[in-house]
Amino acid sequence: MNKHLDFFAREMEEFGARRREFLEIGRRAGRFPSAVARQGQDGTDVEISVWCSNDYLGMGQNPFVLEAMKNAVDAFGAGSGGSRNIGGTNHYHVLLENELAALHGKEEALIFPSGFTANDGALTVLAGRAPGTLVFSDELNHASIIDGLRHSGAEKRIFRHNDLAHLEELLAAADPERPKLIVLESVYSMSGDIAPLAGTAALARRYGATTFIDEVHA
Ligand SMILES: Cc1ncc(COP(=O)(O)O)c(C=O)c1O
Repeated sequence: MNKHLDFFAREMEEFGARRREFLEIGRRAGRFPSAVARQGQDGTDVEISVWCSNDYLGMGQNPFVLEAMKNAVDAFGAGSGGSRNIGGTNHYHVLLENELAALHGKEEALIFPSGFTANDGALTVLAGRAPGTLVFSDELNHASIIDGLRHSGAEKRIFRHNDLAHLEELLAAADPERPKLIVLESVYSMSGDIAPLAGTAALARRYGATTFIDEVHA
């Protein structure tokens, strides 16, 4: 008897019928937005168009990018070789960080393996390190933002989506002495809404808050 595994066996039975099925596809380099999808029990391949990928600028199919990746694999092999703490920082990652910093006019940049870990890592620190930080977070912020804020342990107020009046109400009600961080996306992933950035920046200046913007979709 194993109560732990029994629990998951019951869960599997219960959720089996509602299990989410994901479409198996292969995108085709040079033929955006075409892909081949495997469908049905017999696994027939059909051609489809994928308009919902996040490869907005087509960099995943850009011939220069593909060529550079092939050259990098030939020279350095595949994979980063492990955590930079232990195995050292991959040369190409250093080049990318330098280029990103120059692009944004900053001293340094730090890359993460995914957008999710970037939000989680950055917000854990930015919301969590300064004692007493109060966070103001848009109600439609992505799950990775919510996770990062949760991991920071910071107290937060949720403002109604893109609602500057509500954000101001919450900022005005907060203790002026507390460090404040406003967290939002510039373009929202599910609705495509654009955030009122100028108005948010004006409020941040008025109430002495820092802004953190997720630009994944922008
Ligand atoms: C707004 C937003 N932030 C972060 C992420 C996470 O990015 P990634 O898929 O690179 O982990 C997503 C993913 O879709 C997103 O929509």
